[in-house]
Amino acid sequence: MSANPPLAAGVDIQRLRELVSGCTACELHRGSTCAVPGEGPIPAEIMFIGEAPGFHEDRQGTPFIGAAGQFLNELLHGIGLDRSQVYITNVVKHRPPGNRDPLPDEIAACRPYLDRQIALVRPKLIVTLGRFSMARWFAGQRISQIHGQPKKADGMIVVPMYHPAAALHQGALRATIEADFLKLPRILAEMRQQLAVEEEAAKPKVEQARLF
Ligand code: URA
Repeated sequence: MSANPPLAAGVDIQRLRELVSGCTACELHRGSTCAVPGEGPIPAEIMFIGEAPGFHEDRQGTPFIGAAGQFLNELLHGIGLDRSQVYITNVVKHRPPGNRDPLPDEIAACRPYLDRQIALVRPKLIVTLGRFSMARWFAGQRISQIHGQPKKADGMIVVPMYHPAAALHQGALRATIEADFLKLPRILAEMRQQLAVEEEAAKPKVEQARLF
C-alpha cells in the first residue's frame, strides 16, 4: 500500500471524485466495480459518514442505497430531512470484499479524501454511523456509551450513532438509533442558535452600533 498524501486546497469535488475513482492506494480497488466517493450538496450543514460501500453501492457508485440506505432514508424522513439536503459519504470509498470491516491501512489510505470532503462540504454537524467513522474523533471510546451524544470536535458538532445496518441485524438497536435520530432537530436548533450568537459577537462594534 502507498499512502495518499493530503489533497491540495485546489482539489474541488469533481476532481476529488476523479481521484477516488482512479485510486489504487490500497488493495480494495481490485475487487470493486465502482468507487463510491459520496454525494450531496456543497456546502451542507449536515454530513453523515458511514463505513464502506456494500454490494449495491459498489454496483452504482452511490452511498447508502441498499437495505441500510433505505433505513437511513426513513430515519432522515422521520426528522423532516431528505437525502438531497445532507452530504453522505463513507470512511473508505471502495467496497471491502464480502463486506468485511475496513482495515486500518485502508482507512488511512482513504483519509485524505475524507479530509478534503470535510473541508469542501464545511459541515457544521457530522453524524458518524458506526464504529469506524466514530473512531476518527473518539478513538478508544465505546459506541454503546457515547451514541446520540453531541460533542464538539474540530470546530464542529459530532454526533456518534450506531450504523443503520447494525439496527437491521440486531432488532434491539433499531429503537436506539431511531431515538438518537429524534435528538437531531434539537441539537441542530441549539447549534444554529449558538452559531448566530457567535456570529453576532464577532461583528465589528461599529456595525452593531449602526443598528441602534
Ligand atoms: N454501509 C455503509 O457504511 N455505507 C454505505 O454506503 C452502505 C452501507
